[in-house]
This record gives sequence, structure tokens and C-alpha cells, in this order.
Amino acid sequence: MADQRPGQVQTHGSRTAELVAVSRARHLLRHKPPYIFHDPYAFRFLSRRWQRILGSRLRDAFVSRVLLRRLMPITTQPLTRARFTEDCLLAAIENGVGQYVILGSGYDTFALRHPQLDVTIYEIDLASTIALKRDRAGTAGLELPESLRLIPIDFEKDDLAERLTAHGFEPEKRSFFNWLGVTYYLSRDAIQDTLNQVAGITSPGSEIVFDYLAETNSIPEEERTLAERMKNYVGKLGEPMITAFDPARVETDFNTRGCWDVVRNDSPADQQKRYVDGRSDVYALPPLFWCLHLSRQ
Ligand SMILES: C[S@@+](CC[C@H](N)C(=O)[O-])C[C@H]1O[C@@H](n2cnc3c(N)ncnc32)[C@H](O)[C@@H]1O
Repeated sequence: MADQRPGQVQTHGSRTAELVAVSRARHLLRHKPPYIFHDPYAFRFLSRRWQRILGSRLRDAFVSRVLLRRLMPITTQPLTRARFTEDCLLAAIENGVGQYVILGSGYDTFALRHPQLDVTIYEIDLASTIALKRDRAGTAGLELPESLRLIPIDFEKDDLAERLTAHGFEPEKRSFFNWLGVTYYLSRDAIQDTLNQVAGITSPGSEIVFDYLAETNSIPEEERTLAERMKNYVGKLGEPMITAFDPARVETDFNTRGCWDVVRNDSPADQQKRYVDGRSDVYALPPLFWCLHLSRQ
């Protein structure tokens, strides 16, 4: 994996970001309450093509039971990781955190879902994804709130700290960072660099939650075919998954010592138990992705 290069989503907006929004929209249309993650805006950010598919039970059944049948088990994880992260975030806000930074934000809708909260929200993504998000919000007649700052960046090249502070981020105030669905698309250097930069511009007690892909040896053998299928699929979309980690070595591999305390290294089994067990309408969580919650020392 180490010799692979990040993909190029610069020109057309991220396709994987759209697939995450598809999972969230589909959850409300096809599954039963109580929802794992309730995002009533996700559908409105989809392309017309995806809206047509999800808008018809027949078309959706063809896509999910025929075309993408073997990939469908990965559609639960975007729900559980978002739920886990926003539960941690809401607790942090209760605790006085007033800055929320979403790294690789895609079609995140927290700002629309929580307009009453007194939090400044920074959504950071590639310029192409941000442009498409603005475009789709406009087409859907959605007004993005004043509290939201959309900041273009490429984690492989640009200086996160400089961009954030230029947009009003206050390093001396506690903050919460969300970095979901992104690390596996980045090089190891870009991941470490981003984490170091976040450590450099945050005050003690700030938090970050992100998910990472378990490296192949840490995935049970019978699930490795699914992991390969998933990698092939997103690779063909132009966003290859190039980096994975050993869940037993996260403190060393993310070089957290001296900057971060590990609050929780949440396994797929933990998330399955907390959010999915007892439901027959969603796929069980495959043991591919873990969520890491860190707190700034
Ligand atoms: C799978 S999506 C996740 C979106 C969102 N976090 C979510 O969970 O719904 C991956 C996101 O990472 C962004 N991304 C990928 N490579 C990036 C890079 N080098 N710099 C900045 N953003 C990047 C993509 O544009 C996309 O929005």
C-alpha cells in the first residue's frame, strides 16, 4: 500500500462523498426509526441521477440488490461513524466547545441540522467538492448558515493551520475536529502532517474523531474479499484507498505521544453493539473501519 499515490478528485467533486450522502439519504427512505443517524438534508445534496434512483423503490432495488449487491454491507459504517462523532461533538459543545472543524467535509449537513447552536463551523475540503456542495445547496434552495465557513484545501499540499486561522479560527479556544471518511485516501505523510497541524493549532482539551481502515492482516480472512471489492470500487471512482493501520498500534502509528490522549479506539464490534444490534433493516457492520477519538493534552 505504501507506494500508492492519492487519487485526483479535483475536477468533478468527490464521488465517495456523494456515496456517503446516498447512505444517509437511503437510511431515512428505506429503514425504520429510530434512525442510527438522522440526516433529512442528505437527499437534497444528491445528483439528479441518485435522486431518481432513491426516489423509486424499483430502481433502488435494482441498484442495491443487483448492481451494488456485494458492496452494500459497507453502507452502514457512514451512519455509525457519524453518529459516534456527533454524540462526542454534542457532549463537547455542552462542555463549552464553540468551534467545530470538519476536515474533508463532503456533504456534511450538521450546520443545517443545528442552526440554533452557538458554534462556528469550518468545513474544509478540496475546492471542487466545496464548489459542488454550494451548487447543490443552491439548486435545492438551501441557504447555508452564516455560522458556516467553507474553506478549500488539499491536505497533501496546503497548510491547514494557516487556512484555518485566516478564516477566523481561534487556536486558544477549545475546538472539536471531525475527520471522517478521509484518512484512507491520503498518504501516511499527509495524515501525520494534518494531525500534527491540528495539534499545533488547538488548545488542551480539544478533540478529534476520525476513522481509519484496518490493515489487511487485522481483518478476519472471510471479510478480506469485501475489503478488496470496496478498494477496487472506489479506486475506479478515482479515489483509491491507499493507507491502512493496525488497530493495536494506533498510538505509535499516529505518533500521538506528547500531543494526544486516546479517549477511545472504537472497534467495529463496539459500534455494532452500540448502534446496530437488534436491527434487521441495516447490514451488520463489517470489521473494516475503526474510529479513533483523541483529546489534546
Ligand atoms: C468519503 S468522503 C467523506 C465526506 C464526509 N467527511 C462524510 O463522512 O460524509 C471523503 C472526502 O475527503 C475529501 N478529500 C479527499 N482527499 C482530500 C485531500 N487531499 N484534501 C482535502 N480533502 C480531501 C473529498 O473531497 C471528500 O469530500
